[in-house]
Amino acid sequence: MALILNGKELSQTLRAEIAQQVADFIQKTGVTPCLAAILVGDDPASQVYVRNKEKACAAVGMKSQLFRLPAETTEAQLLELVDQLNRDDSVHGILCQLPLPKHIPEKVILDAISADKDVDAFHPTNVGLILQGRPRFLPCTPFGIQEMLKRYGIETSGKHVVVLGRSDIVGKPMAAMMVQRGAGADSTVTVCHSRTKDLASITSQADILIVAIGKPKFVTAEMVKDGAVVVDVGINRTDAGLVGDVDFAAVEPKASAITPVPGGVGPLTITMLLGNTLKAANYKLGLN
Ligand code: GUN
Repeated sequence: MALILNGKELSQTLRAEIAQQVADFIQKTGVTPCLAAILVGDDPASQVYVRNKEKACAAVGMKSQLFRLPAETTEAQLLELVDQLNRDDSVHGILCQLPLPKHIPEKVILDAISADKDVDAFHPTNVGLILQGRPRFLPCTPFGIQEMLKRYGIETSGKHVVVLGRSDIVGKPMAAMMVQRGAGADSTVTVCHSRTKDLASITSQADILIVAIGKPKFVTAEMVKDGAVVVDVGINRTDAGLVGDVDFAAVEPKASAITPVPGGVGPLTITMLLGNTLKAANYKLGLN
């Protein structure tokens, strides 16, 4: 029986800690940390995420502003809003919900968000700082995974971490973080992706297998070593409901610890965003 890594419960603990830190920050500075979220178009999943981000801000005592723009918004109009938010001293964090409508190039928008307010850690400056081991912000999903490993006391030093998936949002930054020196890292890292040959022979060497490939139940028992820690980042909407990228029922008996879907990695992502927004407010006031 694997230990179930309960992201929902951990998220509640972390949010209570953040709420206390927000209260201390407000008392010390008189300033309330504020997140500005931009949503372009009406993608249903994005609507839910953005709404949840707003609620989460309120629950820890932070402000949030939501900018809903129609799907026809032009690149120039969106850049204008980003510029306005970059210059607004009352806004500490800016998040542009992805995906954007096809006619707007995501990189152009993400590059335009001030690196000091980039709570997603998607700006090239922030990505570079992570790679160099001196991060300013960490991207929310990998940050949540690393925090979960730390809080559950899962040893990462010298362990073989296999990351399945090479996205800019999860796979690449996750690999970059786990290879750094320090607590919750110091791992030997392998990144696998859709072109990897003999995938199962590599994933079955993993002490810690982190799966972000976006295919329902892609990871089967044969791909997992006995006693491995399995982290499932997948959120796939299927006829059978939400399923992860890991075949949980088949893999759980082999794993020493595993995240469920839902209730694993998912709840931590927004929690880390709250932490990043508080950090951005601290930066703004020169407090760290
Ligand atoms: N869309 C899916 N994940 C994310 C995320 O972490 N941040 C933003 N801004 N959009 C997303």
